[in-house]
Amino acid sequence: MSSEVRGPSKTKIPTIKITTPQAEDGMNSKVAPERQTAAAAVGAVQPAKARKRVVVAMTGATGAILGIRLLEKLRRLDVETHLVMSKWAEATIAFETDYKIRDVRALASKVYSARDVAAPISSGSFKVDAMMVVPCSMKTLSSIATGYGDDLISRAADVTLKERRRLILMARETPLSGIHLENMMKVTQNGAIIFPPVPAFYIRPKTVDDIIDQSVGRLLDLMNIDTADFERWDGMRKFGAREG
Ligand SMILES: Cc1cc2nc3c(=O)[nH]c(=O)nc-3n(C[C@H](O)[C@H](O)[C@H](O)COP(=O)(O)O)c2cc1C
Repeated sequence: MSSEVRGPSKTKIPTIKITTPQAEDGMNSKVAPERQTAAAAVGAVQPAKARKRVVVAMTGATGAILGIRLLEKLRRLDVETHLVMSKWAEATIAFETDYKIRDVRALASKVYSARDVAAPISSGSFKVDAMMVVPCSMKTLSSIATGYGDDLISRAADVTLKERRRLILMARETPLSGIHLENMMKVTQNGAIIFPPVPAFYIRPKTVDDIIDQSVGRLLDLMNIDTADFERWDGMRKFGAREG
């Protein structure tokens, strides 16, 4: 949505269009008229809505392919990605997939070492839309829950929480101990979203790829990004439920 704004009539300032991100989101389309005319008077024009920018962290839980698929989809959707992989993420990529580490790195816009706590994503002043840890080990979950930012992944997650930005953890372990559950509760109470990679069998997946696409697609729903490449629930009939 955009709003037409005119400058005060005596100063002959031409009509300009101010488009605010809020207005585009439909969250707050009302910009005070006095602010619009003040902006027009100094020739200020709001920048076009920026490309989405996301931090993707991969850790050493099983399911490395989920993080890889996420990077592939974000690349296809033209989202700027800032990637950090832990040492054990690299080990699980090598163990569980045919991808070379350099090929995974090449999917991201920027890549940082997990040891580099001086990287831009270590500061709240570096603006990002969200951070996703996919997959997220219980060890990284616990460091986020306790605010123990000794590597770039836990530090960037800590920053995401303190800046009240979206933090999504694809936490993976089974079964779960009380410690895991307490940590999940703690990060949830502080604004994070725990999103375990749990398959939806109502789509009747035929391949592992179907399960991965559905999990990653639903994850990106949390950022209002539609991958448009997986089945959504649309009532019983569509999914072939037998009538009794
Ligand atoms: C093949 C493999 C699979 C693993 N799967 C899990 C898992 O599903 N969940 C988990 O919490 N840890 C898992 N681990 C253990 C973590 O890699 C280990 O706790 C590590 O210290 C996590 O460090 P990071 O969070 O810095 O990557 C796995 C390790 C290996 C080698």
